[in-house]
Amino acid sequence: MRKSTEKIEAFKHRRKKVISRLGNAALLVAAHPEQIRNDDVHHAYRPDSNMYYLTGFEEPECFLLIRPNANPETVMFVREKNIERETWDGFRFGPEGTKKEFAIDEVYKIEQFEEKCLELLKGYDELYYRLYKNEEADAKVQKVLLNLKRAYGRTGYGLMTIKDADTFLGEFRLKKDEYDLVNQRKACEISAAAHVAAMKFTKPGVNERQVQAVLSHEFYMRGSARPGYSFIVATGNNATTLHYNFNDQECKSGDLLLIDAGAEYNMYSGDITRTFPVNGKFSAAQAKVYEGVLNIQKELISYVKPGIFFKDLHKMAEDRLTDLMFELGLLSGKKEDVMKANEHRKYYPHGCGHWLGMDVHDAGLYYIRGEARPIEAGMCFTIEPGLYIPADDKTAPAELRGIGVRIEDNIVVTNSGCDNLTAGVPKEIVEIESLMASR
Ligand code: GLY
Ligand code: MN
Ligand code: MN
Repeated sequence: MRKSTEKIEAFKHRRKKVISRLGNAALLVAAHPEQIRNDDVHHAYRPDSNMYYLTGFEEPECFLLIRPNANPETVMFVREKNIERETWDGFRFGPEGTKKEFAIDEVYKIEQFEEKCLELLKGYDELYYRLYKNEEADAKVQKVLLNLKRAYGRTGYGLMTIKDADTFLGEFRLKKDEYDLVNQRKACEISAAAHVAAMKFTKPGVNERQVQAVLSHEFYMRGSARPGYSFIVATGNNATTLHYNFNDQECKSGDLLLIDAGAEYNMYSGDITRTFPVNGKFSAAQAKVYEGVLNIQKELISYVKPGIFFKDLHKMAEDRLTDLMFELGLLSGKKEDVMKANEHRKYYPHGCGHWLGMDVHDAGLYYIRGEARPIEAGMCFTIEPGLYIPADDKTAPAELRGIGVRIEDNIVVTNSGCDNLTAGVPKEIVEIESLMASR
């Protein structure tokens, strides 16, 4: 659990950047208290992304308060050391350990939050805080704000203004720094290796769940702490359900297998989708759909460079996929009318990508006050067009029914274009077929 000096410096650097943009506002981040469930079984806790982003601290039940240009400037409230609880639940840094190991100016025990935070917030105009993530944390914060107003007495001051901390911090998280990128690349590398292993493993007769086990094994063996999201291992018609996650069917010869899986590494997640034939060879109909989606995916990636707009990628994906639907005989009539009536959404109902980082659908604005924001170097996102033709779609050509294809890569924008961080998993038909034949 000890943090290396290199990491501590990276977190300090981030806090410095955040502090420089706070003005006369304070920032408060809460990490979710341990979940209280209706059982007494221990469930793994995933650290809060914002807390981790600013401190590297991974324990539940804590607050971070940042007070720009004040002393102390950084304050945390954490669980006290408790030998008995640590025997059951594991190591805690405690206030002293946290102060020393995480280079925080002042650290108190969590029980002191209401009393100390009240004092520490005096004099600030505004507070960045994300409400509604956790009721217990919200209740504590509300109490502090109410007591603070009371402490001001009859001065005319009302409740301190709350601004959304997630929106504020999202802007920092959206543009990846060197430390982000080292971890983001590693998460993508692990995810890619797992997809290659799953491709090699898959053959007729294996169960989707066994393929999931192969992915999971590779994740953990390569240093991932957990998957970034629920595995989607969808064979045949299951691939036409976008968030399919039963993952319990047999993979059959003649069907495709769609895998959407990403490993988390140091809190950053990969998010890769590949679609390939269970028996190692695409049928003519499958190849037609696959090649069409692949060409669009490659065109979208090649369009990416600083200055473009995400909304244009979405538009381009919809436009090209609609052309493909016409080519495949899925749609008829005039393209303009079809698109106006959203008929194409029947086979492509999602967007072509999203920000990627510590959260799979990562923080950061797509639009700023209604205006699309230009893409900048250092931003990471997915490019994931797909086409899904349900087995019971009587209007589709029979040979295409039950085919679902999505191809998803993770990219980082560079000064002149972009880098594909997940290029390690084959996606060309010949590459996939030769990898699967080499087993
Ligand atoms: N795996 C979730 C997504 O692709 O958005
Ligand atoms: Mn995605
Ligand atoms: Mn995905």
